[in-house]
Amino acid sequence: MKRAAAIWCITALLATATQAQTKRPAQTEKAKMDAYINGLMAKMTVDEKIGQLNLVTGGEATTGAAVSTDVEGKIRKGQVGGIFSLTTPGRIRKAQEIAVNGSRLHIPMLFGQDVIHGYKTSFPIPLALAASWDMPMIEHTARVAATEASADGINWTFSPMVDIARDPRWGRVAEGSGEDPYLGSAIARVMVKGYQGDDLKKANTIMACVKHFALYGAAEAGRDYNTTDMSPNRMYNEYLPPYKAAVDAGAGSIMASFNDINGTPATANKWLLTDVLRKQWGFNGFVVSDYTGVSEMIEHGLGNLQQVSGLALKAGMNMDMVSEGFLTTLKKSLAEKKVSLADIDAACRLILQAKYKLGLFDDPYKYCSEERAKTEILTPAHLKFSREAASQTFVLLKNDNKTLPLKKAGTIALIGPLGNSRANMPGTWAVNADLGNTPSLLEGLKAVAGDKANIVYNMGSNLLDDATEQKNGTMFGREIPRDARSEQDMIIDAVRTAEKADVVVAALGESSEMSGESSSRSNIQIPAIQQRLLAALLKTGKPVVLVLFTGRPLAIKWESENVPAILNVWFGGTQAAYAIADVLFGDVNPSGKLPITFPQNVGQVPIYYSHKNTGRPLPDGKWFTKFRSNYLDVSNDPLYPFGFGLSYTNFNYGGVTLSSGTLKNGGTITASVTVTNTGDREGKETVQLYTRDMVGSISRPVKELKGFQKISLKPGESKGVKFTISVNDLKFYNADLKYVAEPGEFKVFIGPNSRDVKESHFTLLDR
Ligand code: BGC
Repeated sequence: MKRAAAIWCITALLATATQAQTKRPAQTEKAKMDAYINGLMAKMTVDEKIGQLNLVTGGEATTGAAVSTDVEGKIRKGQVGGIFSLTTPGRIRKAQEIAVNGSRLHIPMLFGQDVIHGYKTSFPIPLALAASWDMPMIEHTARVAATEASADGINWTFSPMVDIARDPRWGRVAEGSGEDPYLGSAIARVMVKGYQGDDLKKANTIMACVKHFALYGAAEAGRDYNTTDMSPNRMYNEYLPPYKAAVDAGAGSIMASFNDINGTPATANKWLLTDVLRKQWGFNGFVVSDYTGVSEMIEHGLGNLQQVSGLALKAGMNMDMVSEGFLTTLKKSLAEKKVSLADIDAACRLILQAKYKLGLFDDPYKYCSEERAKTEILTPAHLKFSREAASQTFVLLKNDNKTLPLKKAGTIALIGPLGNSRANMPGTWAVNADLGNTPSLLEGLKAVAGDKANIVYNMGSNLLDDATEQKNGTMFGREIPRDARSEQDMIIDAVRTAEKADVVVAALGESSEMSGESSSRSNIQIPAIQQRLLAALLKTGKPVVLVLFTGRPLAIKWESENVPAILNVWFGGTQAAYAIADVLFGDVNPSGKLPITFPQNVGQVPIYYSHKNTGRPLPDGKWFTKFRSNYLDVSNDPLYPFGFGLSYTNFNYGGVTLSSGTLKNGGTITASVTVTNTGDREGKETVQLYTRDMVGSISRPVKELKGFQKISLKPGESKGVKFTISVNDLKFYNADLKYVAEPGEFKVFIGPNSRDVKESHFTLLDR
């Protein structure tokens, strides 16, 4: 550290002395950085430069077969640019000391981690956070995550995951913000801001890594890591915007995706990593591969390790996660003139810049405070916020006869394999959560009901019929012990428990590892064994509330027709159990809205609100019409549309008023609506604005989200909600990929979800 700091001071002084006082501060800062890095790179051997491009694992948590070996030896030799999955100030300090004191040039390392939805205080999974539509709240979850992670030694997170996903078979829908580019972009921006704050040099901010660039969410058939093939039009208008939003928000790094895109894996896709990312978007951070993304190109069929490593580097890949293809082959490729020194230098410079921006050359141990680790992690304030945040993400899908909220009285039977599992509460990718100390739903209900209600639990069924399938869906410490009794015996027992109760809360759905990475499903229903349990519970005639745990949209048509109340709770983080109880008992009024469409069945997939009209659209309200775009066996309607979610109160929407019937280029118009709380309790409502471009040079979606506002209304209260629409909001990428707004008629829709809207229209003028 001393040496590094000394070099920094001298170079900084020199740089300052030679700079004209008149330069803008940003330029001065950039010039200082360049001078420092130029000085450092002048001393580096090719091996040391290549070493900076190597990212190794330091912990146990891995997502592939390969693990890094001889990490300490490599650090000493200057062969490691960063480590991930190593935590705690003590361990990180030790590793950093080896780099700073033990390697020739004393270059500090980056310490990365998958801090995806919170750190030790975990928050709802990203898909759930998106359901809150609450940007300040989402930003604050990232802020808290950064505070805790940086207090534990981490300075770089592999988040936000901004992949648009419209196929719920893909397990990783859980990790993103759903189907919509507008909502996804808004979330991408606030996540980056939450992690990076206003100054990356602060000790409580960490560098974001936007992933997975790009189109990972469009994997064919929803099978993880599968091929994607997409038109430029769809890419630019629907899938790329959230990555761009994160880049524009200043994300310091980006992770390439595993998939191939129109024939070239993203990891070596020059068009993607250089032409789009650098040239079109002006990205100035660094690009890291995903876990063994470089060596996996051997399996993609692109050549041997040396060939694929060269391809990746030349395409614009800067850091190789775990493959060690860069480390072991680039020098040879350089000698053989297959890559150039300029390619290696460019990548090395970007890694060093990241370290500089984080302030690691000033103080490589700035994230290694034992004191902070003791006082800033799992604080009462963080836990309180986690509980509040979780309660904002639940989506009330159905509530007949005011089944919810429950009274804190009588006997409540909690039944189902997910009702008493602590480990399944935080959700997939909660790698730092203390699974053993996360209250189960049973514990949460008991804590919130206190002695007012008698809560009894019965497991009712196993998670899945098949034991092996259950094992595969409950990895990483998320086991749900299997009950050895027969299904029949378990149901009889559960029914007995239900019969003695006033109301049944059925905690069913997926375990947390049934979504997430490499957890694709071809059947997206509640597992059959649980459905049979649910049917038996309904037969008792007791009111049944389905508390649905899921990391993806599930096809719950039968449940939606037969269960009186359904609360979709996703996976809500450390405090989920209390938050679910808060909502079930009505201490909090649910306000979540779906960030992704729920299909009627898997055959409708991909189904999303922002589809094209086709030349043969189905007339509204119809199911099947011959020679129209539809199915014989199911209507085109989703089960629950994008943006949908109920409340314990009701909201009434007035008509849409526009400030003008025409919009001039450069001008704006205002769309207004009055929303009234017509029920008897206070509630929050996310008012959504959509537009439709009626005539375009290319076909345009039937609706596109263009704005939303989350408001709170007291019983009887009305609020006027105004949205400003500017020409920019109407722009799209045309057939030449030019970003344009085309004059003509536009429809404006406002409503509580993408289906139940009121509409008006205006004309965009030529000038
Ligand atoms: C995942 C990434 C993750 C990385 C490191 C990969 O398998 O796709 O999202 O950041 O592992 O853990």
